Amino acid sequence: MQKSILIAGAGKGIGFELAKLLSTDENNSVFAVSRNISQLDKLANEINSKTDSPALINLALDFTASNFPNVLEQSLEEYNFKPNVVIYNAGLLINKPFAELTNSDFDQLFDINVKSAFRLFRMLLPRLDSGSHLLGISSMGGFQGSLKFPGLSLYSASKAALAVLMECLAEELKDRQIKANALALGSAQTEMLAQAFPGYKAPLSAKEMAVFVADFALNGSRYFNGKILPVSVSTP
Ligand SMILES: NC(=O)c1ccc[n+]([C@@H]2O[C@H](COP(=O)([O-])OP(=O)(O)OC[C@H]3O[C@@H](n4cnc5c(N)ncnc54)[C@H](OP(=O)(O)O)[C@@H]3O)[C@@H](O)[C@H]2O)c1
Repeated sequence: MQKSILIAGAGKGIGFELAKLLSTDENNSVFAVSRNISQLDKLANEINSKTDSPALINLALDFTASNFPNVLEQSLEEYNFKPNVVIYNAGLLINKPFAELTNSDFDQLFDINVKSAFRLFRMLLPRLDSGSHLLGISSMGGFQGSLKFPGLSLYSASKAALAVLMECLAEELKDRQIKANALALGSAQTEMLAQAFPGYKAPLSAKEMAVFVADFALNGSRYFNGKILPVSVSTP
């Protein structure tokens, strides 16, 4: 089946690798959204020159902007792009001791890690067909019972909120046969990981993690719905 995949947060790291992997498979078309799309545009020039219709469409957008769902909706309409797989991958990490965290840190973290996912999925609801799969990229830090790390309290709490949002979406959308899951990722080597654990070497590259996430986004909803799954070979 042809998959139309919307990746929210694809400018770098795991999201970029996801866009690359998924758009190079001829069965897929990908709509990638991020603030910085310079890498994505280079990729699109390469990939789209080999296909009749574009396999990769990019849109530069900040999810914290007040008009983000409207701008995205208009662009999806313009390209006649109807996603049946949606990956909410965008994320922000602030590494600070609890006592130093500010209200603004809270707002920034929850805006990008939770509220923007809520706004995105709410905007998309009327456009989704049965069989669609909504995937939230959470973190082991937000997985119940996992080992916790100093400095990551609000980040981890926001990732837990995203994961539970996906569980609840699955329940509300089950009559429409739309599935929703969350993956609680362990560490993969990216800018964000370096910020969380300076000097630590992750067991997986961003590309290796993207291979699993891409496969799960395409096929996981056959086996899982309303689940929060840990994806981790190490701690952290
Ligand atoms: N790497 C790990 O070890 C690890 C572990 C657990 C969970 N995760 C989760 O996996 C996801 C990807 O992480 P990563 O390590 O690849 O991080 P990253 O390299 O920092 O990438 C974060 C992504 O989010 C996008 N983004 C951030 N703020 C945005 C905004 N305001 N509007 C639109 N897009 C925004 C970024 O693109 P732009 O800068 O172009 O906007 C980028 O594509 C995140 O949700 C993260 O929490 C990662």
